[in-house]
Amino acid sequence: MKHPQRPGAVDPILADGDEPLSNTSGNPYFGDILETRLSRRSVLRGSLATFVAGAMATHLPFSSAFAAEGSAAAAPSLGFSAIPTSAADAVIVPDGYRVQAMLPMGTPISGAMPAYSLAASGEDQAHQVGSHHDGMHFFPLQGSSRDGLLVMNHEYIEPRFLHAAAAGLALDRSGFPQNEDGSRDDDQVLKELNAHGVTVVRVRADNQGQWQVVEDAHNRRITGLTPMRLAGPVAGTEHVVTKYSPDGSMTRGTLNNCAHGVTPWNTYLAAEENWAGYFANSDTEIDRRQARYGIETRDSGRYQWHRATSGADEYLRFDASARGASASEDYRNEPHAFGWMVEIDPMDPASTPIKRTHLGRFAHEGVIFAPAVEGQPVVAYSGDDARFEYIYKFVSARPFEAATADGSLLDEGTLYVAKFNDDGSGEWLALAPGENGLTPENGFADLADILVNTRSAADHAGATKMDRPEWGAVDPATGQVYFTLTNNTQRQESQTDAVNPRADNSFGQIVRWQEEGSHAGTRFAWDLFVLAGDQDDSRDLAGEPLDQEAIFANPDGLWIDPDRRVWIQTDISESVMNSGIYEVFGNNQMLAANPETGEIKRFLTGPVGQEITGVITTPDQRTMFVNVQHPGATTEAEAFAAGDLVSHWPDGGSAIPRSATLVITREDGGIIGA
Ligand code: FEO
Ligand code: CA
Ligand code: CA
Repeated sequence: MKHPQRPGAVDPILADGDEPLSNTSGNPYFGDILETRLSRRSVLRGSLATFVAGAMATHLPFSSAFAAEGSAAAAPSLGFSAIPTSAADAVIVPDGYRVQAMLPMGTPISGAMPAYSLAASGEDQAHQVGSHHDGMHFFPLQGSSRDGLLVMNHEYIEPRFLHAAAAGLALDRSGFPQNEDGSRDDDQVLKELNAHGVTVVRVRADNQGQWQVVEDAHNRRITGLTPMRLAGPVAGTEHVVTKYSPDGSMTRGTLNNCAHGVTPWNTYLAAEENWAGYFANSDTEIDRRQARYGIETRDSGRYQWHRATSGADEYLRFDASARGASASEDYRNEPHAFGWMVEIDPMDPASTPIKRTHLGRFAHEGVIFAPAVEGQPVVAYSGDDARFEYIYKFVSARPFEAATADGSLLDEGTLYVAKFNDDGSGEWLALAPGENGLTPENGFADLADILVNTRSAADHAGATKMDRPEWGAVDPATGQVYFTLTNNTQRQESQTDAVNPRADNSFGQIVRWQEEGSHAGTRFAWDLFVLAGDQDDSRDLAGEPLDQEAIFANPDGLWIDPDRRVWIQTDISESVMNSGIYEVFGNNQMLAANPETGEIKRFLTGPVGQEITGVITTPDQRTMFVNVQHPGATTEAEAFAAGDLVSHWPDGGSAIPRSATLVITREDGGIIGA
């Protein structure tokens, strides 16, 4: 280190990563205008019964339209013994299960295979697994359940666990080493950008059943610097003209990739979630393309990348201030190239990732595709994870044809936003020129303008403000769509509605719905699958409080396996976990649920300070991969300076904690969860 460094930090709202509250639109909370069938008193803590009887005992109609020909929807078995909550610095799974940790942050996968070390360079990091593992999919090679490509997102970083220069500094989980003048060391910035993005890595089980990295031509890191193409209606428009791409066709990198999606043509989509915080913008006037996403006049960004000492163009672009004579001479439009879903073809390591702009621009948690049907449109659902934001779906204009389907199907179609009525019905509002008031007179010039301003368009259309939409999943037997709504402690009593029934919602809920006719339909019926919480403030599908083996808070990750087990992963914030009303839940965890009965059982608990996120099995369902993100994040700044860490997972001893991937198998080789 050339110069002594000191602890750097930015505004806590930026540092926290969650999008700042930015929906100030006047579109109604349905509770304001409808005479609800529920008394407000009935949804208060401890008196949920009346509400539940109304909204949770609903039997969703239309299900016969989705059931496979001649097949009744069999309920899945949950044959494991539920485990208790845990505050241990360990991963715990039920009796009869085994767990291996692999691919910790810094694991070499490509190039000269640089070994993990705190002293590894920024360039080394481009050949190593990134940090903060999140959404993930297993792409089998030749259909194998023992050999395939694991593709995973790296949501963000914890700089104190990334740099040798952090040792001894009083850094909290969002702090970073900084020079005396407030600038950032160039190689640290490079390492941080390269620790973001996506990893594609071949993994294979050996004869002992241990999974290993395979050095392979598919192995690839996609980072915050990787060149990417823009596609769909916003590509090539004035919204995305930059000094780097004067024709608005290209951009660099993807950031804050939370969950993911898998297309019917077997490519991977990485979501761009809390990207707005990375940008500074000193302009006094900031228009809705940034303001509605939480960028306000400020000279700081989450990690101060624009303050890299070299002033290199790829770092300066994180300052979106208008500095040049026109947009092609600066980075005023750089934030408009973020907030999209990014398509990656893991089978083609030379492919350029593509940002698919017709899926909308917001804090994409992830995306979930409805099962593709030959000759029918492709349908994909996506949540905007911020308080009072919305749930969307995209319906392609062209039909799915398996022989020719590719990502261009995502470039033409209609983006819709969801409106949940208090009577259990719902409708999809088209965000398209001339629809739902989206006209030039109302400030929406054309389709590109609607899409770059997706949140504003949804406000104007009158969508339902939700309690932080996270992952979605589709029941393969019934076609029912599930979404986690993680929490919203800012919701006031006057803002509650039937789908977001709790004010000061600390624990979250899971909503599900059935489309009318097909996934491309414009109407649906919904109910609440579960209100998460403790034994005094929760309800299952039967209207009963969750018992000790089922309590959980803040559902986030969600996946329904081929047998219909609903896997639920929790993300209690590191700012509150294991304390106060959250103490009873212990560390973040994963549970499995029966979609017919609503039974829920705790399957896995993680180490200290982390969240559990990302889940997929091999095709034979006998190996499950799960990610552990940000172990040790609850280490206080002074404790970090003293070298006193709350977690050393997965390496143990005095090791720095690292995000990593779990491999879960059964001792008897059986199906996971059965
Ligand atoms: Fe990245 Fe909404 O969790
Ligand atoms: Ca998440
Ligand atoms: Ca989360």
